[in-house]
Amino acid sequence: MKVIITENYDEMSRKAGEIVTEIVKNNPNAVLGLATGSSPIGMYDYMVKEHISNGVSYANVSSVNLDEYVGLDADNENSYAFFMSKYLFDRVDIDKKNTNLPNGKAEDKQAECDRYNALLETMKQDVQVLGIGSNGHIGFNEPGTSLDSVTHVVDLTENTIKDNSRLFDDISQVPTQAFSMGIKNIMNAKSIILLASGKNKAEAIKGLVKGKIDISLPASVLQLHPFVTVIVDKDAASLL
Ligand code: GLP
Repeated sequence: MKVIITENYDEMSRKAGEIVTEIVKNNPNAVLGLATGSSPIGMYDYMVKEHISNGVSYANVSSVNLDEYVGLDADNENSYAFFMSKYLFDRVDIDKKNTNLPNGKAEDKQAECDRYNALLETMKQDVQVLGIGSNGHIGFNEPGTSLDSVTHVVDLTENTIKDNSRLFDDISQVPTQAFSMGIKNIMNAKSIILLASGKNKAEAIKGLVKGKIDISLPASVLQLHPFVTVIVDKDAASLL
């Protein structure tokens, strides 16, 4: 696992953006595994900037996202589908038909998980971008999730609901469930970049980089993947 410690969020975003942009330049048909949350926003800004100023094209790129809240559709501004359009898809030349997220409004949740898993089998990510929860979750794989897990419905922990409530008007509006790629789907990516900034991620980053591999801190399993780059600012790296 390669660990890059940056001065601040902007440098973290630039480094991650450079890696993803390089992958797209080398392979115009790349499959990008994408993430939501505040951690990758600066990286998406970098990708948009490179698209506008240097013509990096997403016309033949396709994407799979990690997760989506159960019950929210793409028009809901708290959905991850809305987030992706706002920060990336509507700002580059990607064909929206080639972008994929679990459907938060699916009536049959198990059928939706099956559909997404079948899709992932045909779309191995050239790179999977990850953030990390303060409890060490990746995607929405909460502590205790099995290494063999594939896309499933997660009951979000109180910790995650509280962390993510900052983006909602009121904590009561935060969905209590989400669809999430499983750990196996994440580990299937050819390469992984994990981003974190801020002191509230320091414990989780310590567990990810130095802790023993244990499902009580899901991100620690990334130690088993051959091509992981962890890019963290110095606050998130403060316990390393
Ligand atoms: C959510 C997402 C995760 C993300 C995490 C951290 O729980 N499901 O994929 O990594 O938030 O978000 P942030 O980057 O905003 O701290």
